[in-house]
Amino acid sequence: MELSSRIKNVNPSATIALTSRVKQMTAEGIDVVDFGVGEPDFDTPQFIKDAAGAALAGGDTKYAPRSGVKLKAAIARKLKAENGLEVSPEQVLVTFGGKHALYNAFQVLLEPGEKVLTPTPYWVSYPEQVKLAGGQCLFLQTRPENGFKITPEDVLANAAGAKVLLINSPCNPTGVSYTPRELRDIADVVLQTELIVFSDEIYEKLVYGDAEFASFAALDRRLLERTLTFNGLSKAYLVPGFRIGWGVVSGRRAVMGEYLEAINKLLRARLCANHPEQHAIKPALQGDQGHLEQVKAKLSRRRDITTEMLNAIPGISCVPPKGAFYAFPRLNIEGSDDHFVRQLIKETGVVVVPGSGFGQEPGSKHFRVVFLPPEEVLKAAYAKIASFYEKYMDAGS
Ligand SMILES: Cc1ncc(COP(=O)(O)O)c(C=O)c1O
Repeated sequence: MELSSRIKNVNPSATIALTSRVKQMTAEGIDVVDFGVGEPDFDTPQFIKDAAGAALAGGDTKYAPRSGVKLKAAIARKLKAENGLEVSPEQVLVTFGGKHALYNAFQVLLEPGEKVLTPTPYWVSYPEQVKLAGGQCLFLQTRPENGFKITPEDVLANAAGAKVLLINSPCNPTGVSYTPRELRDIADVVLQTELIVFSDEIYEKLVYGDAEFASFAALDRRLLERTLTFNGLSKAYLVPGFRIGWGVVSGRRAVMGEYLEAINKLLRARLCANHPEQHAIKPALQGDQGHLEQVKAKLSRRRDITTEMLNAIPGISCVPPKGAFYAFPRLNIEGSDDHFVRQLIKETGVVVVPGSGFGQEPGSKHFRVVFLPPEEVLKAAYAKIASFYEKYMDAGS
């Protein structure tokens, strides 16, 4: 069967490839510490499970209205109260996770060859989604020295001929979180161009210390019609398996109506998002948020351990993450990070993802850590990385 060139061009994600390796190692009885995949190790709050369970028990097992049930009003209310974004429920489109909302948005906007400004290191799904939509990523390289952040100058210098600018703050894989001031400076430049911003806000609620989250579209009234906002339940409400996310088309209907109708056309093709799980949206957003404080307190300590222990290894340096649950330490080695990671996994069972899978600056070497495991597990794993690194360097690898 001849496959489409579209799908042939899609690369397997660096993280998924590792998942199968981990499964294989575990099946072989090898003791593995998996820092590879971004799955929360905390349990879903009971009231959120109960909401989906009650919907199932109550018979909400049929198709739901296509762009999401009435619960979309709860998302609109959250956007107004927490993000300063005023939209009607019709401007919120409920999807199979934030990832699906992004997929739709690329499909609806990109003509073949149109360019998407993509800061690196990037979330692995962006380039593949852009390619599937026929577009092309134009990478904006960042490096640890500038805190893995793009600047307004980067945007201005590359805006000509580009259609979309991707912003993911807090960021997977670096844990970087832009300050509201930095976002405003980028917004000032965006407003001098024709760029449309895709603001991926999935890690909104996971920021640490003095980091402050701001929704891009809410920074300036003129951005409302220039920004699409993406979010979902997976990270903050610990339900990645529910597959519930959303895209938000802010701005006046007179300006955004055609785009909204186009997205709805695509959503009609997939009928509806998971129905019982949609009923967890309102209780999650409006219910007790106590679990978040606990999760953040734990993750904040795990972040400190990560930064301290990795920076204590001579030859490894780590920009302290401000959000999400990722760190992207730099390796001072001669060879490739792929080789380093392969050997690390083989000799210690500690699984991290090579930085080359995230479009890091050419010539630089990194790996990504997901700091979700408990403190003792993290400490033991970083100790193993430290002794492995020493041996690796001594062997002249
Ligand atoms: C940056 C980023 N955006 C979006 C998503 C998608 O999340 P979901 O589809 O579960 O809502 C993820 C998941 O890991 C992510 O890291």
